[in-house]
Amino acid sequence: MNLLEEARLEINEIDREMARLFTRRMHAVEKVAAYKKEQGMAIFDPVREQQVIARNAGALEEDALRPYYVDFLKNAMRVSRAYQKKMLESGALCARTLRMELGEDSYDILMERGILKRAGELLQLDRRVLIVTDDGVPRQYALTVAAQCKEPVIVTLPQGEGTKNAESLQRLWKTMLQHSFTRSDCVVAVGGGVMGDLAGFCAATYMRGVDFYNIPTTLLSQVDSSIGGKVAVDFCEVKNIVGAFHQPKRVLIDPDVLKTLPPRQIANGLAEALKESLTSDAELFAIIEQGVTEETLETVIEKALQIKKAVVEEDEKESGLRRILNFGHTLGHGIESESGLDGLYHGECVALGMIPMCSASVRERLIPVLAALGLPTVVEGDLETILNIAAHDKKRSGSDISVVWVESIGSCEIRRMPLEEWKQMIRTNLGKGDA
Ligand SMILES: NC(=O)c1ccc[n+]([C@@H]2O[C@H](COP(=O)([O-])OP(=O)(O)OC[C@H]3O[C@@H](n4cnc5c(N)ncnc54)[C@H](O)[C@@H]3O)[C@@H](O)[C@H]2O)c1
Repeated sequence: MNLLEEARLEINEIDREMARLFTRRMHAVEKVAAYKKEQGMAIFDPVREQQVIARNAGALEEDALRPYYVDFLKNAMRVSRAYQKKMLESGALCARTLRMELGEDSYDILMERGILKRAGELLQLDRRVLIVTDDGVPRQYALTVAAQCKEPVIVTLPQGEGTKNAESLQRLWKTMLQHSFTRSDCVVAVGGGVMGDLAGFCAATYMRGVDFYNIPTTLLSQVDSSIGGKVAVDFCEVKNIVGAFHQPKRVLIDPDVLKTLPPRQIANGLAEALKESLTSDAELFAIIEQGVTEETLETVIEKALQIKKAVVEEDEKESGLRRILNFGHTLGHGIESESGLDGLYHGECVALGMIPMCSASVRERLIPVLAALGLPTVVEGDLETILNIAAHDKKRSGSDISVVWVESIGSCEIRRMPLEEWKQMIRTNLGKGDA
């Protein structure tokens, strides 16, 4: 072995040791990043970096090596800063992170109290940003996001389902044109499911699609509508009839914003979480059955999202499994149409729609939970009219209908049945429900 080979072997050995130490150092850096995030401290701390250089370089025995060692330390600290930044941006330091795995369309769902204030860190907002909100959402939420954007444009629409239409869409498109939005700009929804569906569809269609971020502010949108990529508007009084699949680039869930949400809206969101639990997760059902508290609310959101995430990952474009998310929806949509825009909320209609679509033993447990949440258990409108509206639901093909049926809590099946049989089942089971 010549001198060169010997020296290289020694270097290889040192490099192996340094790789081990590098890993240790980066794990320590992770803890520093978590602490800085918690304390709201900046990543770059020039005083600390100077101290590290002075102390370590001062201890070096060979003077001739000192300038190179200083360079080495500076590089190590530059790499650490980059790693900390990446961790913060990737949401790795968020209290709860879920990853929606959809190949090229994969994205993170980040949940943390106060995350609204970190939107600039977690979303790419250094461009033109159309913030879509409504006048029922506390103004502060959109302003907090806008303050973190390079070029924000806020559009505030009237609250309510009546806004989810082609007219609002035109207003958004026009605003984007007027402000010279390009394909590399983005849209952010700050609001409930109405804003998410509308802003998402606007993002899907403007210039054949721009980036979309969703910041849901109702419980219903946090547990359900903000993930999955289904975006739409209502047209000619038909709900969600014009739409697209357009996945968000990222979803930020801030449970703190729910503090301003009226109790009826909280119950509305819990109805969707109940839907998820009945078809897929008996434990989630039990948590809601015991009464949701401030402590368990985040777990409810996370568990409901996990269910929806798994279903969407299996069936992104709703060709099979995703239909289970429509549990309670066929009748629910009929009730929603019949009750009109000022009538029942979406979750309330789904609550009613679930009752006849499960076995008697499930119904026995479900109805008291709905009642305790203040959700309806009895249909107020004319049932025959509702059934006729629901029968025209887009899921119907021919004289048969596909429905999601829950025989026992936590599992479900798709049943196909003649339309008449389905109607009769509702007449019978809803009757039992209000007994
Ligand atoms: N895309 C999907 O997969 C999907 C799934 C389920 C439901 N949806 C759609 O979602 C819509 C319903 O969503 P929703 O129930 O969130 O209704 P919504 O968006 O109308 O919000 C309900 C009300 O709460 C107000 N609000 C929002 N955030 C608030 C906050 N933090 N504090 C106080 N008030 C607040 C709004 O101004 C509104 O008046 C429907 O249009 C439905 O079709 C879509």
